[in-house]
Amino acid sequence: ANSLATVTITGAGGQIGYALLFRIASGQLLGPDTAVRLRLLEIPQGLRSAEGAALELQDSAFPLLQSVDVTDDAASAFDGANVGLLVGSRPRGPGMERGDLLAANGAIFAPQGAAINAGAADDVRIVVVGNPANTNASIASAHAPDVPCERFTALTRLDHNRALGQLSEALHTPVSQLRDVSIWGNHSATQFPDIAHATAGGRPVVELLEEQLGADAAREWIRDVFIPRVAKRGAEIIEVRGSSSVASAANATIDHVSDWVSGTTHGWTSAALPSDGSYGVPEGLVSSFPVESIDGQWRIVQGLELDAFARERIDASVAELIEEREAVRTLGLLG
Ligand code: NAI
Repeated sequence: ANSLATVTITGAGGQIGYALLFRIASGQLLGPDTAVRLRLLEIPQGLRSAEGAALELQDSAFPLLQSVDVTDDAASAFDGANVGLLVGSRPRGPGMERGDLLAANGAIFAPQGAAINAGAADDVRIVVVGNPANTNASIASAHAPDVPCERFTALTRLDHNRALGQLSEALHTPVSQLRDVSIWGNHSATQFPDIAHATAGGRPVVELLEEQLGADAAREWIRDVFIPRVAKRGAEIIEVRGSSSVASAANATIDHVSDWVSGTTHGWTSAALPSDGSYGVPEGLVSSFPVESIDGQWRIVQGLELDAFARERIDASVAELIEEREAVRTLGLLG
């Protein structure tokens, strides 16, 4: 290995953590030339599970794995971190009010943001996986004033990959032939999976669907089948599997970071990042966009035409994000 990176995973003793750790240690996050130091952050009741995973990492004898530290102290977990995967969070439980949910997450992401601010490496890249991911990223960023806000991103790559999977099935086309699908807005049921600019084997996906189904049926399929199926896929997985998405979430997290570091090569992908005002999304709001990764930085794809339907769907999801931000601001969580 030519270089060494410190990767911090929060909630490392949980399910997604377990699915992430071995892939990172095997080199799938940062490539075969980068040795990895893993830092596993947990709360006290999750420490044993993380320690168990650390024993199994040792037993895997990964040549690229330099060390594994397990801790419940955010300051030491993020000290020198180059990559932070913020997986541990407080998802909405039954009967939980939104205010309680946001307050519980504020108590997690505000101190983690402060620890990143205090100790992370200058090139730190953060992706928030724990829900509500977009707003948790805003909270962490607000507590890390010395870290450029564009280093705080949230995961919508799983939604993006789910959209590719659905299109691949509908068009009988391998995923490798598909390009330029977009996820806009919040990682929630209001997200807008957009295929207006997508192509399959170089041909517009919408055209192919129209050929296959007829124009009206194609429009209905997009609106009534494709979009809700992607947006509610998490619930479908829970219903069928009896447990939430884990391996696919870990896979998407790996895709997000490896594209961020190494660049996108097959058209664009999707990620939630602080808006620069593009497409009328208020500046600073952490919202999903079509993005390319160039020279280690995400760039929002510019100049896409949005029809009235797209505009309405994006505005609805952005409105939800603004509401979440205002609720968090009221709780004093934005510093
Ligand atoms: P899990 O419950 O198995 O693991 C979460 C772990 O986080 C637990 O071990 C817990 O002890 C730990 N944790 C809680 N608070 C912490 C803190 N302050 N610091 C460090 N660790 C802490 O849950 P799972 O399945 O791993 O999912 C994690 C999160 O990812 C959930 O919020 C889930 O909703 C979200 N998710 C997001 C997706 C996305 O596409 N953005 C997809 C799938 C899940």
